[in-house]
Amino acid sequence: MHANSPMLGMSGARAVDRCDQLGGGRFSESAEHLFRPYLSRAHRAAVDQVADWMKDAGMTSRIDPSGSLIGRFEGSVAGAPALLIGSHLDSVRDAGRYDGPLGVMLGIECVDALRRQSRTLPFAIEVAAFGDEEGSRFPSAMLCSRAMAGLIDESSLEIDGLADALAEWRLDRRDFLAARRDPTEFVGYLEAHIEQGPVLESENLALGIVTAIAAQRRYEVTLRGIAGHAGTNSMGLRKDALTAAAEAILTIENIARAGAADLVATVGKIEALPGVANVVPGEARFSIDVRAGTVLVRDHAADEIVGRVSAIAAERGIACTITCLHDLAPSPCAAPMMRRLEQAVTAIGQPVRKLVSGAGHDAMALAALTPMAMLFLRCKDGISHNPAESVLAGDAELALSALLAFVEILTEDLHA
Ligand code: HGY
Ligand code: MN
Ligand code: MN
Repeated sequence: MHANSPMLGMSGARAVDRCDQLGGGRFSESAEHLFRPYLSRAHRAAVDQVADWMKDAGMTSRIDPSGSLIGRFEGSVAGAPALLIGSHLDSVRDAGRYDGPLGVMLGIECVDALRRQSRTLPFAIEVAAFGDEEGSRFPSAMLCSRAMAGLIDESSLEIDGLADALAEWRLDRRDFLAARRDPTEFVGYLEAHIEQGPVLESENLALGIVTAIAAQRRYEVTLRGIAGHAGTNSMGLRKDALTAAAEAILTIENIARAGAADLVATVGKIEALPGVANVVPGEARFSIDVRAGTVLVRDHAADEIVGRVSAIAAERGIACTITCLHDLAPSPCAAPMMRRLEQAVTAIGQPVRKLVSGAGHDAMALAALTPMAMLFLRCKDGISHNPAESVLAGDAELALSALLAFVEILTEDLHA
């Protein structure tokens, strides 16, 4: 545990503890593991709890039309543009406790420390707890941060079940796009997040500064063959959708392995229908997630994958539909915001280590609204999207010190 910060009342350890508190019970849809999908009862319970913590830190809060929780701490002039600090509250299935919530909790701790020091700033601070970053409930991801940044339209909301899920929160899908904010409302966006990779730990570093977030594309593939009796369908006559999917999935892996070092492709979800042991699968559905540091590398690989999967289906006489669910360009971090983050990390005596993020973040969307930067925290064994996700309280303390130093540097810049 890192020695307590010199700042009065701030606590990275409490930020970690609060993530632990949100790591189960009523804050999860599953009793067996952490699963907090967007607009679920568990998500709502987490929003209500985080709203209380925001209040304790001296913030007002509201739920925006997309279901994100937005806290606000006024500066010296009411209604002044805000530094937005945030991350997401939703999770993948069988998730770790820190991917998302840690960035929200550190934002609240930052405000609480400023409140305790009776600091008033030339800008406000808003803390955003975005509702849908993972896309673990509906097909597309980052719906809330993309809505805030004005990156979605009505067609993006044509999602089965979304209107009903919003209505559970007394939100109306017709108001969703009103979550959009204006660039003049912000001075920048800052997201603290676990690295979700091994680099910082391998170099014995607590903090990293993100230079850019990799481009990503997500597809859904549906293969349709003919369901049949497992005992009477001879192998040569089958139209087996699942074996076609199996050949396609290994081909996807081979394409990614043969590509550039920063190219990755993942099939994370697969479904075989009707899904019983004595029926040749008539239908197979699977996801494809393709990422790379540049659009050129990503798109070249994605196009090859789409072509080869289609060809495999055709050779097997299987119908194939491939739908692109979302397409996120790489997001470079804003130089002025990165510079301040570098100064902040240096000011607290930490080395500056810059790195690209292979993981996607709400910051990708916010980059379209206001200058953004990301601060990475080391995580144990680089593990994430896994209940073994772990972060050191001392590193969270350092991250909090860096956020507060960033606020001071931004204040000086705005006064200059
Ligand atoms: O998929 C991602 O990179 C992020 O965790 N949603
Ligand atoms: Mn994640
Ligand atoms: Mn995340």
